[in-house]
Amino acid sequence: MTAPTPPAPFPGGRRLFRLGRQTAHLNHGSFGAVPVPVARARRRLLAEALRDPDAFFLAVPDRLATARARVADHLGADREGIAFVTNATEAAQVALDALALDGDDEILVTDHGYGTVVRAAARRARLTTVALDPFLADEDAVRRAVLAAVTRRTKAALLDQISSPTARPIATARLLADLAERGVTTVVDGAHAPGMIAAPLAGRPDFWFGNLHKWGYAPPGSAVLAVAPAHRGRVPAPVPSWEDDRGFPRAVEYRATADYTGWLAAPEGLDLLASLGAERVRGHNSSLAGYGAELLSALPGLTPLPADESLAMRALRLPPNLARTRAEAEALREEIAARYGCRVLIWPWTGGGGIRICGQIYNRPQEYERLAMGLGSLLAAA
Ligand SMILES: Cc1ncc(COP(=O)(O)O)c(C=O)c1O
Repeated sequence: MTAPTPPAPFPGGRRLFRLGRQTAHLNHGSFGAVPVPVARARRRLLAEALRDPDAFFLAVPDRLATARARVADHLGADREGIAFVTNATEAAQVALDALALDGDDEILVTDHGYGTVVRAAARRARLTTVALDPFLADEDAVRRAVLAAVTRRTKAALLDQISSPTARPIATARLLADLAERGVTTVVDGAHAPGMIAAPLAGRPDFWFGNLHKWGYAPPGSAVLAVAPAHRGRVPAPVPSWEDDRGFPRAVEYRATADYTGWLAAPEGLDLLASLGAERVRGHNSSLAGYGAELLSALPGLTPLPADESLAMRALRLPPNLARTRAEAEALREEIAARYGCRVLIWPWTGGGGIRICGQIYNRPQEYERLAMGLGSLLAAA
């Protein structure tokens, strides 16, 4: 087997972040990272708020509308059709609270869904969970498995655009259209989509949400919820708002005295991505993740899951009986961090879990090489 070719570093990529140099941050997909110009923009906003709180807070609703319009333009969304929310978990709850549900109604999810998002659905209705074999490569087989689980009680389907542990696209435009045809309300968890895919709202679901703080370079606590026109009148504000009479999106966004600096600085992250060349960044990140996955695939017992090569995340199954539970996965994650200084996601799964790695412009091929060496010796000793 020939050794994979390491991609060239992204010029200036590392200097854009203040990440600790001792650690290989190979887990951008979990919490993101904030580039220096975005952090600076946020600090400027905070300084404004400290200087004249009255002027700052009184202007917040209108400034949010301006920031929202900039974000909407980047995402290809309707400017009045999205609202800032804190994160994907909150967005899921707000979206699901907008559904009119009867006692018998069920929400369809998959076993690749994100824990807190699935729990938001479980607060609202009984769940039907579709088990999808992580090795199922065929997109059409995934579509058929989801559709086969739809019954007359299925009121809504909550599906990942790109799943967290397995890094796979599930809510394809075709699946969303098939569900809509069956009268199922579609709710798409696009937590990873802003910044990682070019047209995140293309499938036109009823509800869609995405984190700006992952691949959109925004400060943590920045996400958006997009709602199709037919549902906007039913979206509840998370807390009573002085903007209640103006409805969605203002009533959802304006939550009294709070820290709005992350949302107001969020467009700077998307602007930065555009100025670096979003396609160029995506191409670089996916090839880095692919390089890392190729190195890990060479380790005995590690099996790559089917990958969408355009994405900046890759998942591999670990040898059987490792990371079967959350506690085992967390212990392995911390061991990798402590011994080899590499931050990765270890996901638990029945029978044995997996590892997910990401590529970002601050990463270097040597970091994946270090991970592969470390994990190789750890597994050999196990
Ligand atoms: C697919 C998916 N959904 C939801 C979330 C939750 O995001 P947040 O912590 O911003 O609520 C994540 C986080 O990694 C995710 O990967």
